[in-house]
Amino acid sequence: MAVPLIGRIGVLILASTAFYAYVGQLVPQNEVQPPQETVLRTDLTTAEMVTTGRQIMDAKGLCFTCHTIGRSGALRFPDLAGIAGRVSERAPGVTDIEYFAQSLYEPDSFIVPGFNPGMPAINRPPIGLTDQEILCVIAYLQSLGGTPTVTMQTSHKYYTPAGAAPVAPGEAPANGAAPGQKAAPVAPAAAAPAKSAQLKPQAAHLGGAFTS
Ligand code: HEC
Repeated sequence: MAVPLIGRIGVLILASTAFYAYVGQLVPQNEVQPPQETVLRTDLTTAEMVTTGRQIMDAKGLCFTCHTIGRSGALRFPDLAGIAGRVSERAPGVTDIEYFAQSLYEPDSFIVPGFNPGMPAINRPPIGLTDQEILCVIAYLQSLGGTPTVTMQTSHKYYTPAGAAPVAPGEAPANGAAPGQKAAPVAPAAAAPAKSAQLKPQAAHLGGAFTS
């Protein structure tokens, strides 16, 4: 028995509507997706962090739009070759991890002598590295003239990984602290002393935060 024409047209309309509805929902709603945040594995070894850190510095970190490694002469930006070996001149009593963390999160709180401010805070847009990416960058910086010791579980003043012991305020001053320094009461962001002096009072409680 023949299906009436009107019925066939109805089925065709229904079928094509369903087909387009199906195809339509396959197409993503927003054509402009924010860049996918790559989550770094939390079990990266320190050696893997060094390699990853260098890749981040080459790419997303944009570090080499300003910095060089192994150039001398009149430079606008500090050369990073051997930087881990200079931390003790920059910030006596401060661990290399804390110095690098501060250089990246709060670059203007200490200006390298002979240079002008102008480094962007690396954890904020437009560069916007994640805390984990910054740990990898710190691993690479440690490898320039030093020994990388940072892990994905390392805490520092600006970041405490989930499950890691926080950097305890007022922790007993230890190894790194210069003699005669007292643990400064912790008042982050409040009453900042003169810029160049800022690293020192913190040294006492930060110095003991890293044992391995
Ligand atoms: C727009 C230019 C610019 C970019 C991009 C930049 N920096 Fe810097 N950086 C500077 C300047 C200028 C200084 C020196 C002034 C200061 O101490 O803040 C500096 C200082 C530093 C220091 C301290 C060096 C020393 O001799 O003690 C470190 C470490 C550092 N940068 C690492 C990085 C890393 C890692 C990146 C990428 C994630 C980066 N910088 C991106 C401009 C930049």
